Amino acid sequence: MKRTKIVHLVNADTAQGRVLLMGWVRTRRDARGFSFIEVNDGSCLKNIQVIADEKLHNYKKIRKLSTGSAVSVTGKLAESKGAGQKWEVIADGIEIISLAPESYPLQKKRHSDEFLRAIAHLRPRTNKYGAAFRVRSEMAFAIHKFFRDRGFRYIHTPILTGSDCEGAGNLFRVTALDLNRLPMQYGTVDYSKDFFGKEAKLTVSGQLEAEMLALALGDVYTFGPTFRAEDSNTRRHAAEFWMVEPEMAFCDLQGNMNLAEELVKYLCGFALDECRSDLELFARFVDKRLLTALERIVQSQFVRLPYREAVDILIRSGKRFEYPVRFGLDLQSEHEWYLTEEHFKKPVIVFDYPKAIKPFYMRVNDDGITVGAMDVLVPSIGEIIGGSQREERLDVLERRMEETGMRKEDYWWYLDARRYGSVPHSGFGLGFERLLMLVTGISNIRDVIPFPRTPKNIEF
Ligand code: 4AD
Ligand code: MG
Repeated sequence: MKRTKIVHLVNADTAQGRVLLMGWVRTRRDARGFSFIEVNDGSCLKNIQVIADEKLHNYKKIRKLSTGSAVSVTGKLAESKGAGQKWEVIADGIEIISLAPESYPLQKKRHSDEFLRAIAHLRPRTNKYGAAFRVRSEMAFAIHKFFRDRGFRYIHTPILTGSDCEGAGNLFRVTALDLNRLPMQYGTVDYSKDFFGKEAKLTVSGQLEAEMLALALGDVYTFGPTFRAEDSNTRRHAAEFWMVEPEMAFCDLQGNMNLAEELVKYLCGFALDECRSDLELFARFVDKRLLTALERIVQSQFVRLPYREAVDILIRSGKRFEYPVRFGLDLQSEHEWYLTEEHFKKPVIVFDYPKAIKPFYMRVNDDGITVGAMDVLVPSIGEIIGGSQREERLDVLERRMEETGMRKEDYWWYLDARRYGSVPHSGFGLGFERLLMLVTGISNIRDVIPFPRTPKNIEF
C-alpha cells in the first residue's frame, strides 16, 4: 500500500477508503475503550486525528504513545464527528516505529523563540517553524516561476571567488594552507602557495559573473548562498544568506525598478494564494496585521524617491535619529523604517545615491555625483532589495576602479565585457531571508533559516 501524505487527507473531497499514513504523534488522549491520536507528518500544518480502538492487538502499547513518537497507521478515512476537522482515520493497525522518551524537549506548551533556536535541530517539528520552512520552500519555487514565466534563464554563479563585488571588505577567506605554518614572503602570506595560487573568498554576491551571462543570454538570474562577515548582531543580518540576483541586458534603472516592484508584489501575492494556512498561523501567533499588510503591498504602487529627497524628508521630519542624516551619508535602518513605515506607509524605492557610498560598478549619472543605484524599502524590514544600473562605459568604469583603489588587473575579465559589445544593463539582489521575514511576519532572520549562521554561532 502506498503512503498518503496528511495534506492530501485533510483536503480530501471524498472518503478514499483505506489509507496508510506515517508521521509523528503530537498528542494522545484516551477515552473509555479507545484513544485519539493527533498525527502530523509535516506535509501541512494540520494534524490528522487517528482513532485507536481497544480491540487493536497492541492497544496496551498504543496507550503509551508519547509526544514525538513515530507511527505508521493503516485505516479507513471517515467523516469526523468531532469539531475542527473534516476527516479522521479509524485505525485498523498502528505500528509503533519509535517511542520518544519523556525527555523529548517539545512538549505541548508554547516555547520561546530563544529556547527553540538552541534546539534548531528539533524546531522544524513545531507548528511555527514547520510553517516557516514550508513557506521557504514555496517561495523558492515562486522565484523560479516568476523568472521562467518572463523568459529569464537560471544561471549558477561561483561560491568560491577571487573578487570582492561590493568592496565592503567583509569577506570570509577560504584557504587550504595550514594556518599554523603559513608560507611567508616579505612579511606577508604567500598565497601563490595556496590551493588556487591566489587569495580566495566566499562570494558576497554573484552579480559580477551574472553580468557576463546577461551580456550573452539577455535576461538571467542567479539564486544561491552568499556570505558576509558582518560583525553586526542585528535581527536582519546573517553571515550566510541566500540572494536572488536578476541581471538584464538592454535595461536601464527604470526597467530595473519596474522589475523589482513586480517581483516583490508577485511574491507577496504568491504567498497569500499558495501558503494560506501557514500564513494564517503567522497572522494568529506572530503578526496580527500580516495578511492585510501583504494585501496592501500587492495593491500598492511603490513610491519612487530620489535619495536627495529622502534626505530632505528625514531632515524635515523633526525626528531625533541615532545616526546623522546628511547628503553623502548612507541611510541607516532607522531612516529606512521612518520612510517606509511612518512617512509613506508603503514600499519605497530610493534611487540615485551619492557615488561615494556605493560600489565601483554602479553607473555614474550625468551630475557626476550620484550613481544609478536603487534600494527597495518595505515596512518592518527596511531594505529588501539593492540594485543598480551598471557602468557600461569602459573609461568611466576604469576611473571608478582607480578612485576606489581596486586592482584593475584582477578584474580584466569584467573590463573585457565593456570592451566587447558593451550595452546598458541593470540588475539587483533580493535578500531571500528578508523576503521570508516579510511574508511570514517573523521579525528575526535567525528564525527563517533552518540553521542560521551569525557572529559566534555556527552550531549544528
Ligand atoms: O544591497 P546588497 O549588498 O547588493 C548586492 O550585493 C548587489 N551586488 C546585488 C546586485 O545588484 N545583484 O545586497 C542585496 C540584498 C539586500 O538588499 C538585503 O536584502 C540582502 O541582500 N542582504 C542580506 N540579507 C541578510 N543578511 C545580510 N548580511 C545581508 N546583506 C545583504
Ligand atoms: Mg544594499
